[in-house]
Amino acid sequence: MSVYAVYFSPTGATEAVAMTIAGAMSQEVYSMNLCDREMKGDSLSLGAEDICILAAPAFGGRIPTASVERFQELSGNGAKAVLVATYGNREYEDTMVELEDIALGCGFVVVAGIAAITEHSIAREFGAGRPNAEDVAVLKEFSLAILKKIKETKDLSVKIPGDRPYKTYGGASMTPKGNHKCVGCGACAKKCPVSAIPMDTPNQTNADVCIACMRCVSVCPMGARDLSKVMLLAVHQKLKKACSVPKENKLFL
Ligand SMILES: Cc1cc2nc3c(=O)[nH]c(=O)nc-3n(C[C@H](O)[C@H](O)[C@H](O)COP(=O)(O)O)c2cc1C
Ligand code: SF4
Ligand code: SF4
Repeated sequence: MSVYAVYFSPTGATEAVAMTIAGAMSQEVYSMNLCDREMKGDSLSLGAEDICILAAPAFGGRIPTASVERFQELSGNGAKAVLVATYGNREYEDTMVELEDIALGCGFVVVAGIAAITEHSIAREFGAGRPNAEDVAVLKEFSLAILKKIKETKDLSVKIPGDRPYKTYGGASMTPKGNHKCVGCGACAKKCPVSAIPMDTPNQTNADVCIACMRCVSVCPMGARDLSKVMLLAVHQKLKKACSVPKENKLFL
């Protein structure tokens, strides 16, 4: 049995959660961040004995649009899939069920689901410090319960939460931009999952392509990319009612 973690993680929280779960199952984990444009899901060769953590962040209660085709390149070949939706303390709505449909379409057997609270990657005051030590302990304990289920149970089915048809996500109408601190190193352009930043003018952003994933903001070594203060304030105002009370991780087995 091999354990894989395949995730779309622009700013690292989804990766951290997926690796916590996978790491509790095995000391050796094969991992792939589908945000990296050179990563190809069809390069993995999975089999029925394997376990694969499939993880994506909620973007407006859905998986990020840019991740759909990348997850669809995977061939599950009967591998057991653990679905993970990370979310910034608002709600994950149809993120996990969308991931379930992709996993089933790729030939995985879905055995468990996890909705994990993380810091909100746009408004970091929400979910700040999550996952914390308590969350990590919960995730690790649940990972062992999943292993036990796979080893000891014949009926591996699980009820994954969410609605079909999925809720509509119109996209985030905000785009980070470079500021005067930019030294033109190109790290943001290289890491943007959708090539929205030109290599030769990386202080610009193609707003029509940008999915507002915040990866460029998190990878810039100079702190030279950000959303405007007006945008951040607007996001804070919009989210504060729904996001202020800390929520629990939700586990489905
Ligand atoms: C464009 C965008 C939309 C988001 N939508 C939601 C949402 O609907 N519900 C929520 O609770 N968090 C939402 N978040 C927060 C992310 O789901 C959360 O921070 C996630 O863990 C980010 O994962 P990453 O660190 O792997 O990029 C959103 C973040 C972004 C950038
Ligand atoms: S990573 Fe930062 S400093 Fe480097 S090109 Fe992008 S905005 Fe400029
Ligand atoms: S330009 Fe947009 S899509 Fe590209 S990394 Fe930045 S926020 Fe994400």
